[in-house]
Amino acid sequence: MNNPMVWFAVFMVGLIYYATASNNPEWSGNGNRCVGECYDAYTAQNGTPLEQETQKQELRAQASPADLGKTYYAQCIGCHGANGEGGVGPKLAGQAVDNIISKLNAYRAGQTVGNQSMLMWSVAKPMTDTDINNLGAYVGTMN
Ligand code: HEC
Repeated sequence: MNNPMVWFAVFMVGLIYYATASNNPEWSGNGNRCVGECYDAYTAQNGTPLEQETQKQELRAQASPADLGKTYYAQCIGCHGANGEGGVGPKLAGQAVDNIISKLNAYRAGQTVGNQSMLMWSVAKPMTDTDINNLGAYVGTMN
């Protein structure tokens, strides 16, 4: 028992035991005070963290292409307007989905569509095919 590491290990085990065994709600240093009944009440209402995560993933899997496109469209609002009404960039609302998709593909490939295509190249560059289809689906819901 001359090895100081042994004493350190004993100390750490004791510290961990103390920390997990003492859940005194009066102790302000204990950030996780929802234990026992409190935790049961929480999970009865909201589900366990695992159930919550599973539900979130199910919702994400159910999201339609237009829903996902809407999320992506957040970064387009500045130039094309919240409802695709146009601004710095042209009006998108009312355009055919095929047209949106083919133009986004062209921008992603670095091709020139109009005389300001440069502004769209960096926007379209990181898009996947799915992103482009989702954006097309969402823009198709604008009118
Ligand atoms: C920095 C401003 C800016 C941002 C951000 C931007 N755009 Fe554009 N967008 C433009 C401009 C400018 C044009 C016209 C480009 C040209 O002359 O070819 C354009 C053109 C387009 C076109 C072709 C429209 C047409 O009628 O020819 C589509 C589709 C498009 N953008 C979709 C998007 C989508 C989707 C996003 C978000 C992921 C986005 N843009 C983000 C500025 C922007």
